Amino acid sequence: MNIILLGPPGAGKGTQARHLVETRNMIQLSTGDMLREAKDSGTEMGKIVADVMARGDLVTDEIVIGLIREKLAGDKVGGFIFDGFPRTLAQADALADLLAASGETLDAVIEMQVDDAALVSRITGRYTCGNCGEVYHDDTKRPAVAGTCDKCGSTDMKRRADDNEDSLRQRLMEYYKKTSPLIGYYYAKGQLSSVDGLADIADVQAVIASILD
Ligand code: AP5
Ligand code: ZN
Repeated sequence: MNIILLGPPGAGKGTQARHLVETRNMIQLSTGDMLREAKDSGTEMGKIVADVMARGDLVTDEIVIGLIREKLAGDKVGGFIFDGFPRTLAQADALADLLAASGETLDAVIEMQVDDAALVSRITGRYTCGNCGEVYHDDTKRPAVAGTCDKCGSTDMKRRADDNEDSLRQRLMEYYKKTSPLIGYYYAKGQLSSVDGLADIADVQAVIASILD
């Protein structure tokens, strides 16, 4: 089963994707994570995308489609969760072509709806385990021991360079201009399911599970 998690920055795509990886053996394909890895390891592509990401602009279609193409050729196990991809109509068309070429289907597109005010507090309160990637929040998801990851015990907690109000404003602008048309695109294809992303994390997990089962 291959699915897309669609939603604005902070909607909870990464949080839900990680749960699906743990419970359903699916593979999370987050273009944001791939781009941050390229940036941190200092590759040529990483140098090109670093400023674009810090500003909150979208990276070119060519770069992200190339990243996804590489991953689709690899291990599939329980299927792919596309997290943060596609983000433009051109990316959506490219994904359809790539899946068709490898004999795969797109089984669900889950739109996570969260209002803008909640997104600001989610993004500005977010931090992540630098070792295993578990996502936390200052108010809504704190580890049992402050500063120590519940999943792996690491104390290396990180905040993202683009998790500030200025970059978030630009990320939201990009979302509404370039990504939100995908809601109509997938609705018209009969593939869209919308979930209330303002509900508690466990409740959102349950609704997504009921869509997938
Ligand atoms: P990316 O890494 O994809 O970031 P994003 O889309 O802005 O999404 P986020 O990771 O910020 O949020 P999320 O929805 O995963 O929320 P999370 O689960 O962490 O992209 C970053 C940049 O890379 C882009 O700006 C662009 O430059 C580039 N890029 C990436 N893909 C691209 C593409 N395809 N094309 C072009 N450029 C691309 O949750 C947020 C917080 O809320 C956490 O603290 C969490 O604990 C908390 N939370 C989650 N769910 C709930 C809940 N139900 N209730 C309460 N709190 C919750
Ligand atoms: Zn961890």
